[in-house]
Amino acid sequence: MDQDRIKWVIQNCRLLAEIGEHFERTQPFRGLTIGTGIHLEPKTVALLLTLRRGGAEVVATGNLNTTQQSAIDYLSAHRVRVIGGPTSDPAEHDAYLWELVRLGPQLLLDNGGDLFVRYLEEPYDGLLGGTEETTSGRMRLEPLRDRINLPLLVINDSPIKQFAENRHAVGQSVLESFIRITNKSTNGKRVTVFGYGACGKGVAANFRNAYSVVSVVDSNPILRLEAMLDGFLVPDRDEALRTADVVITVTGAEGVVTAHDVPLLKDGAILANAGHFPREIDAAGITAAAGGRVTVLTDGHMVNLAGPRPLGNSIESMDLGFALQARCLEAVALGTVGPEACVVPVPRVIDESVAAAFVAL
Ligand SMILES: NC(=O)c1ccc[n+]([C@@H]2O[C@H](COP(=O)([O-])OP(=O)(O)OC[C@H]3O[C@@H](n4cnc5c(N)ncnc54)[C@H](O)[C@@H]3O)[C@@H](O)[C@H]2O)c1
Repeated sequence: MDQDRIKWVIQNCRLLAEIGEHFERTQPFRGLTIGTGIHLEPKTVALLLTLRRGGAEVVATGNLNTTQQSAIDYLSAHRVRVIGGPTSDPAEHDAYLWELVRLGPQLLLDNGGDLFVRYLEEPYDGLLGGTEETTSGRMRLEPLRDRINLPLLVINDSPIKQFAENRHAVGQSVLESFIRITNKSTNGKRVTVFGYGACGKGVAANFRNAYSVVSVVDSNPILRLEAMLDGFLVPDRDEALRTADVVITVTGAEGVVTAHDVPLLKDGAILANAGHFPREIDAAGITAAAGGRVTVLTDGHMVNLAGPRPLGNSIESMDLGFALQARCLEAVALGTVGPEACVVPVPRVIDESVAAAFVAL
């Protein structure tokens, strides 16, 4: 069943299939090892196998609490080396990341800055550069730009990723996950969304489309105005918590909702985090302080990747994002971007070629 799902995903990653065919001919990664620290689930399997088709040795480890054993099994059967297994123990995860970095891959595909930060702690010869998938990773790596001094392209900053994945797909999959995990309706529920960036916009829109009454809280007054003009309620933070049946954080920030907020929350309130790090919601503190009055889904880990039977974002959105990944790693491997491109967005020429290829599918 799980293996069938992986095959379904690979079949439907049509852009990656095209790129894979191209890579088979051009072998951009011949002789290179690519180390990846990205969620191990069916769509990343499609990406990693595409990189292999380009001649790379691929060494992969997952992220905290999102690794799927079936993805590991599939990758291992297709000559991708996987370090470690599913874990929610930060110390164990840390050890896996170190094991990967100490192999000295020439290219790093990072997710949250974990690999490049460790590389700087123990630099090695031969690293050509790589990619970073997320906003959280960009925020962590930006101040380290001078020390990294290698091409490092941030996928999240591509406009394609912003609208195709963050806005449309994260919104859909957070809604799908809420319904799947809770088996509750969304109709007439008061939903408060923290964060009105690309992801928050999609989450807010999808819950509104599912007949919820949505409030938005964003610390940026300009985005608060935008949310208001988009037709959302924009109460102050306390009011937004007091009235909420459902609270969703998607900010990238730390301690957005904590145990201090518990007295504000309604009995039966449901909290979920869709931001990269579980620390957006202090799940342990809230659960202890609430004494069973409120529920934090998936212990505050990303609700659309960490819950039971997680599907993550739609195949099409990930196909687009991973096509950007594959093309950016190709550019770093071939030296068409240099160290001046350190922690910068995807080059426009790559965005345009990926967009055109998707439209032409
Ligand atoms: N779940 C997923 O599948 C998935 C996919 C992509 C990105 N992400 C993660 O989602 C998070 C948000 O991503 P994004 O691209 O929307 O980022 P973004 O920077 O565009 O938006 C974040 C917004 O949160 C606001 N914010 C920050 N702290 C706040 C606080 N304490 N209270 C209220 N608002 C606050 C900021 O002003 C900003 O507008 C990141 O952690 C990112 O890594 C998750």
